[in-house]
Amino acid sequence: TLVPVVWIVAAYLLGSIAFGILVSRLFGLPDPRTVGSGNIGATNVARSGKKSAAILTLLGDVFKGWFPVWLALQSIDVMWVISAVGLAVFFGHLYPIYYGFKGGKGVATALGVMLAISPMLAFAAVLTWIAVFAVSRYSSLAALVAAALAPVYAWYLLANADNAIGLSDYVQTVLVMSVFLIWRHRSNIRKLLNGTEAGFGKKK
Ligand code: G3P
Repeated sequence: TLVPVVWIVAAYLLGSIAFGILVSRLFGLPDPRTVGSGNIGATNVARSGKKSAAILTLLGDVFKGWFPVWLALQSIDVMWVISAVGLAVFFGHLYPIYYGFKGGKGVATALGVMLAISPMLAFAAVLTWIAVFAVSRYSSLAALVAAALAPVYAWYLLANADNAIGLSDYVQTVLVMSVFLIWRHRSNIRKLLNGTEAGFGKKK
């Protein structure tokens, strides 16, 4: 049947919507692709100094990750389709069709996907992000540590005995998102290592 394909394509098209770009336009702020890190996410919108714009970007990008996965859970409830919908919306954010496939780093969108799959998992990831950010003041480092730990949390919370190594489709989904999220942070990793990453509330 065509149904999974329709879900996956729709999720990808939804994921391609970049709230950072839309919200910045709405607030009369510069296009986030042209300032700061050049990233389209809430972190870079926050560098404009307009907190409400950053929060709206964060909420939009989390919502678009959560919504299609939640909807798929309500209506089809087939694990591999839910996983595929989650990956499709995530990859939409990373490689958006409307913006020449140049998208974001996936932190908020992955959070939305995890929120739909398991609120406990999302909660654990958010707590990790907050703890690392509180200490380091680096949004990127907080995301990297949360992404590295998210598959471990997922395995602990969601793995089942369906297959030999106990990895459910959801654990694999989280693992794939983490790998790509970390890959998309490679410029941040470089800057963290050479001390030029822009933190919040610290002098550059
Ligand atoms: O959400 C992306 C964040 O982890 C880093 O963003 O703008 O500092 O590259 P940025």
